[in-house]
Amino acid sequence: MRIIRDPRAWKETLRDQRKKTVSIGFVPTMGALHRGHMSLIERSIEENDVTAVSIFLNPTQFNNADDLKNYPSTFEEDCRLLEAIGVELLFTPTYDDIYADGFTYQVNETELTGRFCGAARPGHFTGVLTIVLKLLILTAADRAYFGEKDWQQYRLIDGMAKSLFLDTQIIPCELIREESGLALSSRNALLSLAQRKIAPYFHQIISSGITIDQMEQLLVEHGFRVDYIEEWEDRLLAAVFLGEVRLIDNVRIS
Ligand code: PAF
Repeated sequence: MRIIRDPRAWKETLRDQRKKTVSIGFVPTMGALHRGHMSLIERSIEENDVTAVSIFLNPTQFNNADDLKNYPSTFEEDCRLLEAIGVELLFTPTYDDIYADGFTYQVNETELTGRFCGAARPGHFTGVLTIVLKLLILTAADRAYFGEKDWQQYRLIDGMAKSLFLDTQIIPCELIREESGLALSSRNALLSLAQRKIAPYFHQIISSGITIDQMEQLLVEHGFRVDYIEEWEDRLLAAVFLGEVRLIDNVRIS
């Protein structure tokens, strides 16, 4: 696996690669890889000749300094997993190189960005869209893969790709859960033992078919702090806190 840090070198490498291969798949990540990420990478490997991955813990999408500081980092283990699965190219830029403009150029979306997760995390999706646009331009992949756990993020990125006529197709991938039903997330590693026992109730309660008011009441009784539970299109989107750890999930409404 080639590890490249410099954005221009990454762009050139991908440009050369494109001359030799039919299709390139791309999976952007912030590291701390788990089975959810690996399922995106497996799908990319299945559907493309070459798979490129990025690991960049993007500070501009964290509206809370402690959240960024506490975000898990397992770089060596990540590299081992990527090599083992057969990823050819890994991009790990530095903040100064990828934000050489000091984040003065930003991608703003004005409708969906302020709702759901965006309401409690001002600036979060501007940071996400800005980094993802940079990564998509630098990689110019045929397909890029995003997990459905972050449904609002997927919808915003897909909307951006269409709105800006990007050549990369944005592929949503099935949410992966633990056997308990808890959605896999890098943040699960931050839960205490006691919180890990409570966390599966989140999915159980939001998929139980009771009213949103009843869900909120039950979640509070189990020790969660509810950020939001809202229906949007054919999904129920939800975010809760267990202590300081923020968990998100969504279920399709039949
Ligand atoms: O979903 C994530 O891990 C991040 O938001 C992403 C898409 C890699 C952008 O930093």
